[in-house]
Order: sequence, then structure tokens, then C-alpha cells
Amino acid sequence: QSATDYQAEDASLAQAAVATNHTGFTGTGFVDYVNVAGGWIQWTVTAASAGPATLTVRYANGTTANRPLDVTVNGAAAATGVAFAPTATWDTWATQTIPVTLVAGSNTVRATATASTGGPNVDKLTV
Ligand code: GCU
Ligand code: CA
Repeated sequence: QSATDYQAEDASLAQAAVATNHTGFTGTGFVDYVNVAGGWIQWTVTAASAGPATLTVRYANGTTANRPLDVTVNGAAAATGVAFAPTATWDTWATQTIPVTLVAGSNTVRATATASTGGPNVDKLTV
């Protein structure tokens, strides 16, 4: 299956907002988590077949500290405390990959901030 981009600004959001105040994003913006634990971005992604897949999250973290996220797939924990390390500036984007298992067809992927500082800025999810 070829990779598909799912923009963060098109996802469902809680305690997070679409922003454009830094450069280098794809699509029409990125998502800025509120600086609290519990905010999330939720995408609906489509898999051609059931089985292992790699989620690639494009993000920026202009601080000097990790901004971890917990990832669920179809409501079940898929990865806990995934690290989103500093990228030097908020205009500098990097990727983090997360191995998951998807079902054929529609899957719900949610990335929840767990630190009191919130999550990184997120540009998109590629599956
Ligand atoms: C700054 C930055 C935001 C970022 C925020 C944060 O305000 O401009 O894009 O989300 O820091 O610390 O989360
Ligand atoms: Ca933020």
C-alpha cells in the first residue's frame, strides 16, 4: 500500500487548535496542542488490508524537552510515551515513526498529550 498523508488540521481535535504561526508545515497549517495533558488529535485512516503498519508523525518541538504522546488505534493502546524530542526550533520539522496493527478499512488513530506541557506541534500523519 502506498503512503497516504492525513493532515493534522483536518483531524478531530480536543484541547488543540489549528495554527499557522510557524513555517515549514504541509497542507494549510498544523495543530498546536494546548499546554496541558489530555489534549488529542484523532485521525480516521484507511488501510487496504489488516496487519502491521507504520504511522509517521511529522512534528516540531521548539523546546528543550520531550513532548510525549500516547497513541491508540481503534480505542486500544498501541504505543505509550512515544517520544517527540526537541527539533531545535518551532520551524524545524522531524518525523517519529510508530509501529501499529491496523484493521482493513477504517481505523481511528488518536495521539494524546501526556505531559503538562502538552504535545509537540503536529503537521501530519502518514500511513
Ligand atoms: C509557542 C509556539 C507554539 C507552541 C507552544 C508550546 O507558543 O509558538 O507553536 O505550540 O510554544 O510550547 O506548545
Ligand atoms: Ca502547544
